[in-house]
Amino acid sequence: MSSIDEIKARIDIVDLASEAGVKLRRSGRTYTGFCPFHSNTRTPAFVIWPESGTWRCFGECNEGGDIFKFVMKREGLDFKEALNRLAEKAGVQLEQYSPQQQEQQEENIRLRNLLEDTVTFYRNALFNSPSGKPALEYLIEKRKLTQSTLEAFGLGYAPQGWDNALKYLTSKGYTEQDMNDAGLLSERESGGYYDRFRNRIMIPIRDENGRMAGFGARILDPNDQPKFLNSPQTAVFDKGRLLYGLDRARKPIRAVDQAVIVEGYLDVIALHQAGYENAVSPMGTALTEDQMRLLKRFTRKIVLALDPDAAGQKAVLRGLDAARLALDRGEELAFDARGLLRHEARLQADLRVASLPEGLDPDEIVERDRDEWGRIIQQARPIVEHVLETLISEQNINDPKVKTSIVAQVIPLIEDLPSPVERDSYRQMLARRLKVDERTLIGRQAGGSQPRRFPRQAQAEPVKKESAPAAVSAPGSRKTEAAILALLLRRFDLFSQLDRHLQEAGLKELMPDDFEYTDYQLLLRLLRQAQEQDEADALQFLRARADEALMGVLESLLKEPPPKGTNDRLLDELVRLVLQMRDQSLTASVNQLRFMMEDAQQAGDAIDATYQQLVLQHAKLRHNMDKARRKLSEYRRE
Ligand code: UTP
Ligand code: MN
Repeated sequence: MSSIDEIKARIDIVDLASEAGVKLRRSGRTYTGFCPFHSNTRTPAFVIWPESGTWRCFGECNEGGDIFKFVMKREGLDFKEALNRLAEKAGVQLEQYSPQQQEQQEENIRLRNLLEDTVTFYRNALFNSPSGKPALEYLIEKRKLTQSTLEAFGLGYAPQGWDNALKYLTSKGYTEQDMNDAGLLSERESGGYYDRFRNRIMIPIRDENGRMAGFGARILDPNDQPKFLNSPQTAVFDKGRLLYGLDRARKPIRAVDQAVIVEGYLDVIALHQAGYENAVSPMGTALTEDQMRLLKRFTRKIVLALDPDAAGQKAVLRGLDAARLALDRGEELAFDARGLLRHEARLQADLRVASLPEGLDPDEIVERDRDEWGRIIQQARPIVEHVLETLISEQNINDPKVKTSIVAQVIPLIEDLPSPVERDSYRQMLARRLKVDERTLIGRQAGGSQPRRFPRQAQAEPVKKESAPAAVSAPGSRKTEAAILALLLRRFDLFSQLDRHLQEAGLKELMPDDFEYTDYQLLLRLLRQAQEQDEADALQFLRARADEALMGVLESLLKEPPPKGTNDRLLDELVRLVLQMRDQSLTASVNQLRFMMEDAQQAGDAIDATYQQLVLQHAKLRHNMDKARRKLSEYRRE
């Protein structure tokens, strides 16, 4: 048994929640109470299934999980911290590093030391060598950076030539293999290595704890290509998991309770110099959910301050979209606000978009007028508002056709919002801005006017007795989740085929949120990353990244003998398991919801609007699944 399983076995979710102050009432095989995560004392929307050790809030949070998730959410901890806490509580000794992992850890330390030495080398070249002079002049005169800023960010210069860093690092006792592993070399076709970075301004990239990870390198000669060259993916440099400047920004972000994401390294540096120390940037790639999660450890208020050119915004918006939980793949807006909104809801973040003046980068804005930046960030708007204002600013809104098209684009975004209060206020805003009657917007969906809301009479009609759940199943079966993971771990190549199958059947891809158990969620997330990064060896990728306790889970999943069967059979099995898991989760939720609605009815209470919405949502999901099942069995017959 892995230590995680042991902790799960020893800590009862009902005890845990009770100790946290949740008053629970037993009803059949579940316990219900008021959700400890949102303030609502009207409807007991928090449910526990002791059988599976899982919980869910059917109210505002609409979220659930296991004991780890409970503690993470309750105490604002990450998985590792929650694990440590619960291990102690349960009296379980956490596993030590596996030898393989220990080796990787030691290797990473070596790479980081090497990178630190490289920072020193480049810094010397910038400040203390004649060849670094043009670079220094450029940074100070053209980019208006001060000596102390350059030092604080550790900027440097990679000299012209093929082997300057190589020679220096060799003299320090490093091998070419080390340097190559750290991402500092390029390989000649004829064999042998040369410096990857030449005649460039070197920007050290550190993780949120200040540990060296890699470099961003900007050209000095405008004719060189590409403008920025980053370290390649290495054991310590993973672009999708780092945010530039976060080591210096994390404290200020906490202090002002806001993070600002800009596009460029030099924008981050200039903003910090101007006193806006809460700025960070991705590294030339679209934002990932990992990066958002990372930021969320410091604040939930995140402002996107991206280049005004559509392409810039598009890239970021699309990046979020890639990881989104899509239920349907209908018409998208010009840039995908929908994905952003889903992330915002899922991460419980407050995402805003700032409008930057055309043609100016943030560094140029603060240079021109320091306070202007403050105003721009202060005026950042919520996503829906930003979309609406962008659409309005581009068109003549007195044209009824334009009005209709804007409504059709914005309403689906509004209907997607989890909070009824927000939906109402955005509908009002939309009506006001377009000068239309708000009533025409209610229940309106893009491309049709079907009312989507729970019909009025259904609200008053008592839920029939016989529709009450026969047997209360719990959402989440550790066995099913384990079976899916075990199969994917052995047959990583089936992952993308599984995605395709699900997609073709009109279903969303398998995502960590499909799972109820935090350890399995984390493993699935790592598998996704391995896939996004096109890793050939997923197991190696996971082993290098999973921490001790997760390693235990991983290894116990791998204890089962490898699955046998043809590709098609295994794929079928995977699809079946995923559908079964979703089915089970839906059934459990629907049963519980019915139960709660009935309960409210009997007590003469008003039925919580979110319940009804969830019932509708679940019905839609169920419908999709049934449709998918038919589709899948169809092309199996072909
Ligand atoms: P920009 O081209 O907007 O550059 O790229 P910048 O940051 O404004 O740089 P300056 O002001 O011209 O010196 C924005 C970011 O996109 C990434 C880098 O992270 C850069 O900071 N990028 C850009 C690349 O990774 N590769 C490129 O070739 C260009
Ligand atoms: Mn710039």
